[in-house]
Amino acid sequence: MPRETLHEMLLALLLYLACLLPEVTMHQKTKEVYWHFNTTLLLMGTNLNASSVFNVEWCAQLNRNKEVSILTYSPSSKNIYINESYKKRVVFSHTNFSLTIHCVTFSDEGVYTLTIQLLDKQQQIYKSRVTVIIPVSNVHITRQTSAPHQGKNITLNCLGTEGNAISYSWQKCNQPLPIGNRTILSKDNASLTLINIQQSDIGNYRCVAQNVLSSGHKDFILQLCAETGVSPWWSYGIYGYPGYLGYAIVIFYIFSWVKRTRKSSSKGQSDTIYENTTFETPPTNSCKRVPPVYIKYVKK
Ligand SMILES: *[C@@H]1O[C@H](CO)[C@@H](O)[C@H](O)[C@H]1NC(C)=O
Ligand SMILES: *[C@@H]1O[C@H](CO)[C@@H](O)[C@H](O)[C@H]1NC(C)=O
Ligand SMILES: *[C@@H]1O[C@H](CO)[C@@H](O)[C@H](O)[C@H]1NC(C)=O
Ligand SMILES: *[C@@H]1O[C@H](CO)[C@@H](O)[C@H](O)[C@H]1NC(C)=O
Ligand SMILES: *[C@@H]1O[C@H](CO)[C@@H](O)[C@H](O)[C@H]1NC(C)=O
Ligand SMILES: *[C@@H]1O[C@H](CO)[C@@H](O)[C@H](O)[C@H]1NC(C)=O
Ligand SMILES: *[C@@H]1O[C@H](CO)[C@@H](O)[C@H](O)[C@H]1NC(C)=O
Repeated sequence: MPRETLHEMLLALLLYLACLLPEVTMHQKTKEVYWHFNTTLLLMGTNLNASSVFNVEWCAQLNRNKEVSILTYSPSSKNIYINESYKKRVVFSHTNFSLTIHCVTFSDEGVYTLTIQLLDKQQQIYKSRVTVIIPVSNVHITRQTSAPHQGKNITLNCLGTEGNAISYSWQKCNQPLPIGNRTILSKDNASLTLINIQQSDIGNYRCVAQNVLSSGHKDFILQLCAETGVSPWWSYGIYGYPGYLGYAIVIFYIFSWVKRTRKSSSKGQSDTIYENTTFETPPTNSCKRVPPVYIKYVKK
């Protein structure tokens, strides 16, 4: 027999087998199932008529890479085998083959497979990937900078005290926070850093923490602290009371008063003379009152 013909025959056989297989097994897409921690989980069965079923099997590929057989059931003989470690936790429906598991924990996470062997030798397979979720609660924000000043950086850390598989996002004044040069998010988005904070950054920041079953949020109002708590003296002198001209007049009058006093008492009453008395920076702020400084020259 020529080589080509043999190849063709083999190929035809492979194709035939490949076409046959999907007919035998009806394999459905894996269903994602999210379930609250410590509650009762219901894994759906089918609506098949039990009289057409030869055998039913529930097994699980747990996340810790452990393949476990949970139960097998034969409708014709009504024989049921349930894994000893599941006996107290599972309820199995003999009519629709659903499986109920009580008090699910993280060790129950994995892919659960229901395999139904029909009397006509076909089989149906249903897969459900179970993820156990703790709802998000008590979201809070901690900040790494105690007093945010203009030009400084501030980092806000968001955390839910409870909840798993949480994803975080940030809003400013109810709008999604634009991520730019001065806004940096950590890899998981849980912490937000504002670089070189400006007046325009003032506002309400909201951290939204959510997982598939729940969500929570917390607000943080960013305000800027005054520069140093004391305004610079020159800005006070220029813009505030009494201004440069005011000081000049005050100093002039003091100066001439001192001169007059010295003239009238110059006949050697005292060796100590306040020759040049100057006001230094006047007190500028009500919080921090600095007494004026007198410079005293002693004539020898
Ligand atoms: C699970 O729930 C039961 C009853 O609802 C409760 O008594 C138990 O403390 C819970 N266990 C955990 C680990 O949350
Ligand atoms: C199947 O049977 C169980 C118990 O008999 C029931 O709780 C469940 O709602 C039924 N339906 C499906 C679709 O699993
Ligand atoms: C299941 O099939 C049998 C016969 O094959 C029939 O007598 C019975 O009524 C069916 N049951 C349901 C619930 O459809
Ligand atoms: C029964 O369940 C336990 C706990 O999940 C597991 O370690 C064991 O392998 C199971 N038995 C079978 C036969 O799969
Ligand atoms: C703010 O962060 C930027 C970038 O990480 C850094 O270059 C800068 O030194 C920081 N500024 C302050 C005041 O910490
Ligand atoms: C961000 O930085 C890049 C380069 O450092 C600069 O070209 C761009 O204009 C900056 N964008 C904003 C909004 O400041
Ligand atoms: C972080 O948030 C940005 C939008 O601000 C989003 O595009 C990204 O997917 C998020 N990353 C994670 C890990 O949640």
